[in-house]
Amino acid sequence: MAYITSAALEPRGFVILDRYDQDADPAEWLDLEYVDWKSSGDTRFAPLASAQGEIEVDGFWNHVPPRTDKDGVRIDSQVAKAPTLARRAQEPGANIGRCRVIELQPNSYVDTLYNLHQDDNNRLNPDETGWIVRGYYNLSDDPESVMVLREDRYDPTTEIRIPLPAGTQLIVDTQRFWHAIWHTGPAPRYSLITSWESGPELDAYIAKHHGTSEHTNPPLDQQVVDDAQASVQRRLAERAATLASASRTARDD
Ligand SMILES: [Fe+2]
Repeated sequence: MAYITSAALEPRGFVILDRYDQDADPAEWLDLEYVDWKSSGDTRFAPLASAQGEIEVDGFWNHVPPRTDKDGVRIDSQVAKAPTLARRAQEPGANIGRCRVIELQPNSYVDTLYNLHQDDNNRLNPDETGWIVRGYYNLSDDPESVMVLREDRYDPTTEIRIPLPAGTQLIVDTQRFWHAIWHTGPAPRYSLITSWESGPELDAYIAKHHGTSEHTNPPLDQQVVDDAQASVQRRLAERAATLASASRTARDD
């Protein structure tokens, strides 16, 4: 018993596809309807597909009946505003779950490390079907910003930093990695995020666009890393203390 996975993602958990010519397309993401949804940082989301075709972005497992992140229902009013983005999400021909544009306000490296999380894409996913991974297509041009991936949340030596100029196309196993975006700004960052089911269709798409996990991190001063690690540890300890104190208060009431 096992999931169907992509051999291309096996070694490092991500692939970088050929750069897309983003400048040739209209900025469709600016026309979409967004909903406030706090993710990792100060964010809003504009779904193109959702659990029931509504403009909302909750996990499919939070709907009735609960289900895994597959068979997203297309939202016609949004797709009409962003046909190119919809076409790009459909190009692999793999099953699509959630599909949305995310808007992220600028943040700091410390925020990013604090925001590191693993996704839950495969909750309720039946064994022996395709493992769900995610496409991250950068729409705005953010060459100084990076996607941060870590195999070990607290170990900076496991960190991968992938720069995000316009047209960057990544496919990432976000349930394997701790991940978050460090967006330097100054304008918001926009990215098309699509949940795809692994299988022969996605494998062919990765091959067609020369997916590779060969990558060298842009440099980051070791002192910046050390200081950020220490800040995050302090922030996490403060949060734990606040939660502990809240639960003590609740018991006392
Ligand atoms: Fe995530």
